Amino acid sequence: MDKILIKGGNELKGEVNISGSKNSVLSILAATLLTDDECVIKNVPDLKDISTMCDILYSLGIKAEHDKDFITTKRLSKSKYVAPYDLVRQMRASICVLGPLLAKLGKAEVSLPGGCVIGPRPIDLHLKGLRALGADIDLSHGYIKAKCDKLKGAKVYLKGPFGSSVLGTANVMMAAVLAEGKTIIENAACEPEIVDLAKFLIKMGADIKGYGTYRIKIKGKKKLKGVEYNIIPDRIEAGTYMIAGAITNGKIKLLNCNVSHLGSVIDKLSKIGVGIETDTKGVLVFKKKDKLSSIDLVTSSYPGFPTDMQAQMMALMSVAEGTSVITERIYPERFLHISELNRMGADITLEGNSSIIRGVSKLSGAQVMASDLRASAALILAGLVAKGETIISRIYHLDRGYQDLEKKLSLLGADIKRIK
Ligand code: EPU
Repeated sequence: MDKILIKGGNELKGEVNISGSKNSVLSILAATLLTDDECVIKNVPDLKDISTMCDILYSLGIKAEHDKDFITTKRLSKSKYVAPYDLVRQMRASICVLGPLLAKLGKAEVSLPGGCVIGPRPIDLHLKGLRALGADIDLSHGYIKAKCDKLKGAKVYLKGPFGSSVLGTANVMMAAVLAEGKTIIENAACEPEIVDLAKFLIKMGADIKGYGTYRIKIKGKKKLKGVEYNIIPDRIEAGTYMIAGAITNGKIKLLNCNVSHLGSVIDKLSKIGVGIETDTKGVLVFKKKDKLSSIDLVTSSYPGFPTDMQAQMMALMSVAEGTSVITERIYPERFLHISELNRMGADITLEGNSSIIRGVSKLSGAQVMASDLRASAALILAGLVAKGETIISRIYHLDRGYQDLEKKLSLLGADIKRIK
């Protein structure tokens, strides 16, 4: 299995291009199941999760061809409705084919996604929403088996114990665009990826209002058409590179980055002493003072601080001055990176779902193991600033979500390579 070797200490300098949003592409690819026409999706990153979704589409009768940074989807002659375990188990986002399959074919069988290292990830809100639209859903033999005569618009309340659900909102929205009548989703997720999906569906001919707010209103249509669509930049990749600039005392410019999607991240980084300047070409990130200050933050749904940036922010705070507290409110168990960061010399303890990070003067390179996608990113960031060599294993997690990570970091001046 591949590993990543980093020799820490280099200040990053130069420009980095931010790829298209992984999480937008995943649900938008699922949405192509809603039409018989060809779709072209542009600004698509080259990632393992995207190719897994293309394989799932293929198993459902859609050929998705990835060429450079675009994907063309074409329906093959026969529509199928079973998303098999072997593919679904690789990626939880596979669940978002459920809504489109039901809406288009009136039936769907999707393997129940399995466990996840970032904590329990139930799908009750997805099922509640689709049942409200009239689906008959049964869970048996590890599969969600759903059927309906014709979905009917309804009022759907989607808030769970940890807030709204991003993919739950996506699933219900994709089902409602072909349902009969009007659907209102209350407590909908407001994430930029949901707005992106709504815009894609509207371009296909859907009638959706209120996306980007807690109340989405949808009037069902009989048919949707194929479209060309450009994906938004990946806000989590952008946030990760912002931290790479700050943690290495560097000065880097992010190209193809939408700062309006990064309000809470920029707010926190500015407060601790990171300079962030935007001009027409991109976003410049640099350190404004020698030692960054500590901060307390809580993850929450958009526009709050994203859980997908929690681990990376923890790596940064581990070398800041003073004590920071980071509380995780979306996935209270998403803390596997703490023990690995501590192996590199960080001083982090966990109290319930709050981590207490006492800033240290330096980290030291070590052999560490990645546990999930964002935890891997945190270890890379720590390795960039640690003294000596860091070897990160299980890096297949990184390939799921960061396109050309070593290449992009090398171009910025990092001493990083993949070893076989
Ligand atoms: N939840 C429920 N019931 C449900 C669904 C979710 O209780 O039916 C809970 C979850 O357990 C969690 C909270 O609601 O506590 C929010 O989960 P959500 O459903 O919003 O997560 P998701 O849609 O499955 C997406 C992203 C994740 C990101 C979360 C939160 C995709 C493919 N995944 O997951 O991204 O962390 O939203 O923003 O869009 C990542 O990219 O590394 C990643 C994990």
